[in-house]
Amino acid sequence: MKIAVLKESAEGETRVALVPESAGRLIKAGQEILVESGAGSAASFADEVYTAAGARIVADKAALLKEADVVLKVGKPTPDEIAGMREGAVLITFIYPVQNPDLVMQLVTRKITSFSMDAIPRISRAQSMDALSSMSTVAGYKAVLLAAARQGKFFPMLTTAAGTIAPARALILGAGVAGLQAIATARRLGAIVYAFDVRPAVKEQVESLGAKFVEMDVPHGAEDKGGYATEQSEDFIRREMEAIHKVAKDSDVIITTALIPGKPAPKLITEAMLKDMKPGSVVIDLASEMGGNCELTQPGKEIIAHDIIINGVLNVPASMPIHASQMYSRNVLTLLNHLTRDKALNLDWNDEITRGTCITHDGNILHGPTKAVLEAAVN
Ligand code: NAI
Repeated sequence: MKIAVLKESAEGETRVALVPESAGRLIKAGQEILVESGAGSAASFADEVYTAAGARIVADKAALLKEADVVLKVGKPTPDEIAGMREGAVLITFIYPVQNPDLVMQLVTRKITSFSMDAIPRISRAQSMDALSSMSTVAGYKAVLLAAARQGKFFPMLTTAAGTIAPARALILGAGVAGLQAIATARRLGAIVYAFDVRPAVKEQVESLGAKFVEMDVPHGAEDKGGYATEQSEDFIRREMEAIHKVAKDSDVIITTALIPGKPAPKLITEAMLKDMKPGSVVIDLASEMGGNCELTQPGKEIIAHDIIINGVLNVPASMPIHASQMYSRNVLTLLNHLTRDKALNLDWNDEITRGTCITHDGNILHGPTKAVLEAAVN
């Protein structure tokens, strides 16, 4: 198969879908890899490194798309990219289909077989393809560094000739993939870390990383069968906010990552809490894409309110393109291997990973949640 790696077109996107190392593996397995010229340059993977791995560099995007059996990307495809792909070709990228119904309809019309990296089921068998987890790992780590770089204090306790400095106090809300990585990173930097999650099961994980779990009564049913948080009652959120408020007052840094799949981010940090925090403290709101966990978050912007720095940073993984691309590339490679046999596509529609990740195929929408959104829009 001819597998094409596109240069990302979205502003600020620095990642590349396939790094030279993964390209080399596919080439060894008998695939042909075509790379758009400059695709890896923002992630420090020069064209020559792809060439050395056995890939062919193509300067003309239109020619590349025309030739490709499989197209690999990181970000959503543009209408021109979809229009330029061959009918029946395969696309693997982050599509976020539920939020992008127009894009899905274009894929349907062009009869593209599309797989969305954000739709990989969170099951053990698919762990090595789970690009959302990979990117959240990057985001959780980097969020702490952003906070550390922005605040006017040390993270660790220091005993110096100029006096003893108390360690920073960090509060992490949501202890999923990003949250756990944030906890681990803040601990490595020497902060005293508090964390909260509605899923009682994560208390042990939080504590094993050396953080303190913010205690409160959690009603039964805070976790669904897939291990995801369920939406909480108003009363629960009110009680949770009271508990958070007490810890927030003494926190130098708050990193928020609370998410319920498919829902707007729960608002957990209010303006009243910000007013009670210590001047110069920092809130990094990783949930800003879904509206933010903090009432004052402005997605994509840093603001200062009541002397608190609130950063609604978006696309954090693009600020660490080398490792973010390496991890994403490994996830894509594993998915590709799952979808192929003897160098050709082999789509088993009874397989949970293939079926769950496929958005469109042969002019149809296969992804249940996307189908439901589009049908609701018509009725
Ligand atoms: P995840 O699903 O693994 O974790 C989210 C956690 O939030 C879960 O453990 C859940 O139980 C918890 N949660 C839900 N409601 C809560 C509440 N009311 N209080 C406390 N905890 C609650 O998700 P993951 O992968 O860790 O991602 C976390 C967030 O980071 C998401 O919003 C995601 O979109 C965002 N993210 C942002 C990036 C950026 O560049 N800004 C990059 C990657 C992820």
